[in-house]
Amino acid sequence: MLKTRVSEMLGIQYPIIQGGMAWLGVAELVAAVSNAGGLGIIGSVTFPTAEELRNEIRKTRRLTDKPFGVNITMLPAMRVLPTDGYVQVVVEEGIPVVETSGSSPEQYMDVLKKANMKVIHKAGNVRHARTAERIGCDAVFALGFEAGGHPLMDDVTLWNLIPRMVDALTIPVIAAGGISDHRQVVAALALGAEGVMMGTRFMATRESLSHQYFKQALVKADETDTVMIQRSIGKQERVFRNKAAEQVVEMESRGASLEELLTVISGERGGNALMTGDVDGGTLTCGQGIGLIQSVPTVAEVIDGIVTGVEALLKEISSRRPS
Ligand SMILES: Cc1cc2nc3c(=O)[nH]c(=O)nc-3n(C[C@H](O)[C@H](O)[C@H](O)COP(=O)(O)O)c2cc1C
Repeated sequence: MLKTRVSEMLGIQYPIIQGGMAWLGVAELVAAVSNAGGLGIIGSVTFPTAEELRNEIRKTRRLTDKPFGVNITMLPAMRVLPTDGYVQVVVEEGIPVVETSGSSPEQYMDVLKKANMKVIHKAGNVRHARTAERIGCDAVFALGFEAGGHPLMDDVTLWNLIPRMVDALTIPVIAAGGISDHRQVVAALALGAEGVMMGTRFMATRESLSHQYFKQALVKADETDTVMIQRSIGKQERVFRNKAAEQVVEMESRGASLEELLTVISGERGGNALMTGDVDGGTLTCGQGIGLIQSVPTVAEVIDGIVTGVEALLKEISSRRPS
């Protein structure tokens, strides 16, 4: 039941994709997702240099013979990223699919398409999705307001974004944002999506390198435990509601400068907090799907649970009769 244009195009068993993640989208998690029948994606921003990205690609290849992708974030970052170098490395390494995000990948389309790569752009609204289709992207991720990371400032939820994009495009739409279980996957399919992307759900798995204290904090949290920060600098980010996030909310409410904000929101602090288990030590990207995370299973258990859950739920819905 979970065969779609997306699984066909990517040569994967199920159209379940792990979103590229700074710090966590590394070989161990990426290979686990691909080995379980989904598509793992390496987060390039984790690597300060293109050569370090190349090493991670090679490390991932030693852990899986299945397809996996690389995320290349084009959003202006707090530090200069070697984007041209990342693109050159994914081409040289023969990566089959690239997830682009942040802004239009137009300037790289020629080189990526010449290398026979599938390009899937993460779009937060219909206008950006149309642009992605026009410039030759093979599919889009519809990124809803619920998502961990940087949803657009339009604040449109996935519930509305999926059908709007499906109506506007001919290329496949993949749902992203706040998805943690099979019921949401059925809903996404019903709205016309041909696959799902999850980030937060995969943070709380055994293979994720995040510290166990953070995984436990995710299990304890509910859907109200995320907060949107950085609206004042036009780069909003949904993060885990911890002391660092509350501090940023307070700073923004009194009009703090970017320099002041940077003392708390730096990626270094967030990454360090994730890895050392200092749960309040920095701002940590996280989506509203945390409310549905009740345990820390293996990646294969997450994916198998979704696949069997979707099949059972679709059967159950079609056999429902009024009593
Ligand atoms: C810890 C973390 C780091 C992320 N880093 C990136 C990134 O570097 N680039 C990017 O495009 N998206 C990034 N994302 C967003 C994911 O790729 C994906 O779009 C998002 O997690 C989907 O929403 P969900 O977390 O609610 O499932 C990150 C998400 C998380 C949770």
